[in-house]
Amino acid sequence: MGLGRLPPVLVLALVLAVGAQPQDQLPRESHNLNWNKFSGFWYILAIASDARGFLPGRDTRKLGAAVVRVHGVGQLRVVLAFPRSQGCQSHTVVLRKDGKKAVFRNPLKGVEGFRVLTTDYSNAVVDLRLGRAGRHSQALLLFSRQNGTTFPSMRRFMDICEVRELTAGATVLPKDASCAHTILP
Ligand SMILES: *[C@@H]1O[C@H](CO)[C@@H](O)[C@H](O)[C@H]1NC(C)=O
Repeated sequence: MGLGRLPPVLVLALVLAVGAQPQDQLPRESHNLNWNKFSGFWYILAIASDARGFLPGRDTRKLGAAVVRVHGVGQLRVVLAFPRSQGCQSHTVVLRKDGKKAVFRNPLKGVEGFRVLTTDYSNAVVDLRLGRAGRHSQALLLFSRQNGTTFPSMRRFMDICEVRELTAGATVLPKDASCAHTILP
């Protein structure tokens, strides 16, 4: 993949550098996250995904939303509303904490990972891993309590997209809250 002419040592250095990035450069706040504070309604202002067809066509895009609730020990109940090509769709899933890791999952429902990469409780970047029938995808979601982005939150989101090589699939959603508000608590 374009590395054929590089000396092997340089290739190894590149692989190590890329491989080390997510751990070294991504924040790890989710380890001591206050889930009660994180709970509640969030707009989804931007999304980046490596899955084709995750987003509907340009003219039917709208803000998404999530409602996160602590649901017993080590469990989260997450409702997601998202504009898809079939229209606004909402899904509810109960996720369980993966042992000591700061990741919540429910593989039977197709959620392999839900992880908060960074948050100040007003904005957040969430890493969502989906997998079903052997097909895997990852998405980064920019969560916000407000319906508009701020420069620092967008900057943080784009930085993480770059580390994950998802910049090409990054989209800021138009400020139409009609789908998001279908799951207002
Ligand atoms: C965004 O939120 C503000 C109040 O927080 C509201 O006045 C405005 O109408 C909202 N905009 C949209 C497009 O929903």
